[in-house]
Amino acid sequence: MARTRTREHDVADLSLAQAGEGRVAWADGQMPVLRSIGQRFAREQPLADVRIAACLHVTAETANLVRTLIAGGADVALCASNPLSTQDDVAAALVERHGAEVHAIHGEDVETYYRHIAAVVDRGPRITMDDGADVTSVIHGERADLVAGILGGTEATTSGAIRLRALEAQGRLRFPIVDVSDAQTKRLFDNRHGTGQSTLDGILRATNLLLAGRVVAVYGYGACGQGIAQRARGAGAHVVVCEVDPVRALEAKLEGFEVLPGIEAAAKGDVLITATGGRDVLGAAHIEVVKDGAILCNAGHFDVEIDLAALRALAREVVEVRPSVEQHVLADGRRVELLARGRVVNLAAAEGHPAAVMDVAFATQALAVEHLVLRGAELGHRVHAVPEAIDREVAALELAALGVRIDSLTPEQRAYLSSWDQGT
Ligand SMILES: NC(=O)c1ccc[n+]([C@@H]2O[C@H](COP(=O)([O-])OP(=O)(O)OC[C@H]3O[C@@H](n4cnc5c(N)ncnc54)[C@H](O)[C@@H]3O)[C@@H](O)[C@H]2O)c1
Repeated sequence: MARTRTREHDVADLSLAQAGEGRVAWADGQMPVLRSIGQRFAREQPLADVRIAACLHVTAETANLVRTLIAGGADVALCASNPLSTQDDVAAALVERHGAEVHAIHGEDVETYYRHIAAVVDRGPRITMDDGADVTSVIHGERADLVAGILGGTEATTSGAIRLRALEAQGRLRFPIVDVSDAQTKRLFDNRHGTGQSTLDGILRATNLLLAGRVVAVYGYGACGQGIAQRARGAGAHVVVCEVDPVRALEAKLEGFEVLPGIEAAAKGDVLITATGGRDVLGAAHIEVVKDGAILCNAGHFDVEIDLAALRALAREVVEVRPSVEQHVLADGRRVELLARGRVVNLAAAEGHPAAVMDVAFATQALAVEHLVLRGAELGHRVHAVPEAIDREVAALELAALGVRIDSLTPEQRAYLSSWDQGT
């Protein structure tokens, strides 16, 4: 896409645009589903003049989502959903080459982070896009004056959806949200296979550890935990799973993983990984029993899964021993290695998901935005599942991109499967 005009922005350095553009193009090469949607959007202009306030990880893959929305006619303002995941060169490319408004700087402090969210919200969006519910929260708090103009929003992650469902349960949600984190294709690609692979990638880049023969404890056996556990096992680790949900714990046991209470796993693990969406999953009691040299990291959305205050309080010394590795020396001399300051390790210590994973998740988001523009006014003020038709369309586009062909039901089979009187 050609450069249009330089929009309002607060990015680190616009001269990085050329390098960023290279990354965006590389990711584009692995995002065929989004590209095909972008081509249709360019023809049909379903988002013509729709203002979008997006708070997403500012990465090369997100840049391709933004390009797709702009191709469909949208006016996009983007800020970061995590201060450490912003790729400054990509932010520059989006402003310089693609006509997006971007407010995001890698490593920005908390005050700047919220100033950037406010700048994006100030655009008076018709559609919101969140990855952690921050834009929606700001609008439901100090910017309730904007609610009337909003058709709806999307939410990309489980933790954000939990916050929004809490708002809905209190009867305070003021516009419809499509929970993209719940799409079947998204959970498969992003939570399970993307988080599984890239969490290990983050740990390996930070530590250069050999996983074979190590004990890896995975806290939470949802889609993310399942992916991490599978990949760690594939790398030769002995995997221990900790759960609070008996069905999930049973599933882990039947998959052949050892299942233990969290404290026992903490005493046994060489690497402890949280992926629960909850808080204080690894607290003082766990830190008291960890082995010397234990590695602690988090793949959940917020940096509250490891009790950082407890870890600091128990440490007599904290040293940055490698990039993304803070060594906490406890009173008795044991060393606890905290990765990426307890933030989401696959983004903060690696590059997040491979572009092919984000292709599916972002294709769903792009189609969810189109759905909200077309149908948002008819939808109730609830957190909605992704319509099944979107899930199937994304899966079909992905199969086509992979060159995989499948059968379809014959009319007789369809009739049989929907009848009640043909049992025997
Ligand atoms: N790192 C990434 O790239 C990435 C990608 C997608 C989602 N996420 C985040 O990862 C987290 C998990 O996502 P998910 O889709 O697997 O969620 P999920 O809700 O399907 O699974 C979470 C599991 O954790 C369990 N759990 C909760 N508290 C626990 C505790 N104290 N101890 C042990 N188990 C506990 C729950 O019972 C549940 O089975 C969320 O915060 C989500 O936003 C991260």
